[in-house]
Amino acid sequence: MKLIIDTDPGIDDAIAIALAHALPQIDLIGMTAIFGNTFVQQSSRNARYLADLIGIDAPVAEGAALPYGASEYAPSDYVHGPEGLGDITDIPQIGSNDSRDAATFLCDMAAAHAGALTICAIGPLTNIADAIKRDPAFAANVASLVIMGGAYEHAGNVSPYAEANIIHDAAAADVVFASSMNITMVGLDATMKTLLTPTDFDTLAQKAPRIGGFMKRISDFYLDFYRSVGVTNGCPMHDALAVLACTNPEKFTFVRNGIRVAQSGEDIGATLGDTTRPPVKIAMDCDADWATSTMMDQIIELG
Ligand code: RIB
Ligand code: CA
Repeated sequence: MKLIIDTDPGIDDAIAIALAHALPQIDLIGMTAIFGNTFVQQSSRNARYLADLIGIDAPVAEGAALPYGASEYAPSDYVHGPEGLGDITDIPQIGSNDSRDAATFLCDMAAAHAGALTICAIGPLTNIADAIKRDPAFAANVASLVIMGGAYEHAGNVSPYAEANIIHDAAAADVVFASSMNITMVGLDATMKTLLTPTDFDTLAQKAPRIGGFMKRISDFYLDFYRSVGVTNGCPMHDALAVLACTNPEKFTFVRNGIRVAQSGEDIGATLGDTTRPPVKIAMDCDADWATSTMMDQIIELG
């Protein structure tokens, strides 16, 4: 499977990227950076840093810096840290971004691999919406779009109604869900069931000192945040679960419905069922034991 990850690394993004590289059925042909957990310039720097660390030979194209209609954006750095990777600071510039912006890169790759490309979007959906607008053929060229985002029956994590990737650009998200793309939505209904614990990260560090040790290092900040909001049994692997939905949809339980994203009011960013919209697959459950053990086993393979 040819895969592009659209990402705002991001601690759980880092684990998802390592997992994607480790999974034998994935050929990770590129990453596109988006604002979200950090500023987009930091997202692209972090993606290139992670690619170098993990051994990923794929371009990184930098995308949108702002949500649709916004003149500024401030990341919530208390979740993923000052530079997006926990307490690590002064993350070095390694290599350089692709000459194309993210939307152009996505459109070019979708055309070059028409019908064979999966995109896993694990940040706000601005780059995907830009690509839909940029190339009328993009939506049909992409075989599958798997989104980490939304909350169908589950409460939100930014507000009682809205999940972070969706609310951070509700307008762009609605463009995506109004499109005819083959969409799988992996939201909090499923991802809040797949947590890794401090003991899991100790195991990763012990069995895979380099990559596992890095993931343990950056997870401390993330575990502390979730502990501070009452999630005391670990930290959710939101983005890594979306990667597993790309390769093993049979491990998930889906419902189908159209999705409309609330654009204003108390529930802005909510992912609402709407039968007038093209139906998407909405993950409501997964084999959580299989998912977390697969994440662990694959990252341990990386050493
Ligand atoms: O709500 C969880 C999502 O927001 C994840 O993608 C996490 O990395 C943050 O971007
Ligand atoms: Ca993310």
